[in-house]
Amino acid sequence: MKNTALITGASSGIGKELARIHASKGRDLILVARRIELLHGLKEELTQKYRVQVEVIAKDLSVVGASQALYDEVIQNGWQVDYLFNNAGFGGKGAFLERELEQDTEMVRLNVMALLKLTHLFGKDMKQRAKGKILQTASTAGFLPGPYQNTYFATKAFVVSHTQGLAHELKGSGVTVTALCPGPVQTEFAQVAGFGSSKMFEGAASAYKTALIGYNAMEKGKVICITELQFSFLIKCLRPFLPTSLTAGIIAKMQQS
Ligand SMILES: NC(=O)c1ccc[n+]([C@@H]2O[C@H](COP(=O)([O-])OP(=O)(O)OC[C@H]3O[C@@H](n4cnc5c(N)ncnc54)[C@H](OP(=O)(O)O)[C@@H]3O)[C@@H](O)[C@H]2O)c1
Repeated sequence: MKNTALITGASSGIGKELARIHASKGRDLILVARRIELLHGLKEELTQKYRVQVEVIAKDLSVVGASQALYDEVIQNGWQVDYLFNNAGFGGKGAFLERELEQDTEMVRLNVMALLKLTHLFGKDMKQRAKGKILQTASTAGFLPGPYQNTYFATKAFVVSHTQGLAHELKGSGVTVTALCPGPVQTEFAQVAGFGSSKMFEGAASAYKTALIGYNAMEKGKVICITELQFSFLIKCLRPFLPTSLTAGIIAKMQQS
């Protein structure tokens, strides 16, 4: 395999579009998610259209030990991961104390722990080779307090902060790390998180456009990529001047819309 990307959460949404973009450049892929039939469908599409090598691995990355098992499988097969897309993740609506804690701990295991482990394992190999690119799907949520989707926002704040620190540590190493920070995107995310008919996702960005902006930012080695201008303005120019309590109130209304 050559110029190989390992993409978690490749069975739908942003991850699926990242896979299509990567394959369109003639680069190989390892696709990871739980729904193996969807991964096989994507593999067929990409191998036929772009003549690239695509491997699929079914894995529930919220299970303790799954990320290590994934890494071991990749190494045993002799595959080299040149691009790591830590993209799998999910959210969940509701007041923190009224949600099942197990749902939120599963979210932390996937959105934070799996990302941390895979970046540690593959990042070390990349650093040894002095070459590699890592794209972590965070969110604009990572810059904001998140009442009524509290744990999700906190997981994305972790990803933003971790990426910023790691990018500094990796300066001059040949390895770059980028946090992709979209606002609402049209994917299965809203349904999974319990926002079925929420106004928040009206006019949401397309998964393809989001993935393309993120992919290009990763190629350039940018650290933070906020995909839409209005969110970039909000976070960089307005947020620093808004009291946190006011920001939390606005977010709370949006989550309940
Ligand atoms: N959509 C948005 O509005 C939005 C905005 C900002 C950031 N994001 C972030 O973007 C990333 C991708 O989400 P998306 O919007 O593309 O939503 P999506 O369509 O629901 O995709 C989520 C992907 O993660 C995979 N996944 C979920 N649980 C998993 C598990 N336990 N183990 C392995 N894979 C798992 C899913 O595959 P299987 O179900 O087949 O396992 C799927 O491929 C997430 O990190 C999300 O937080 C989304």
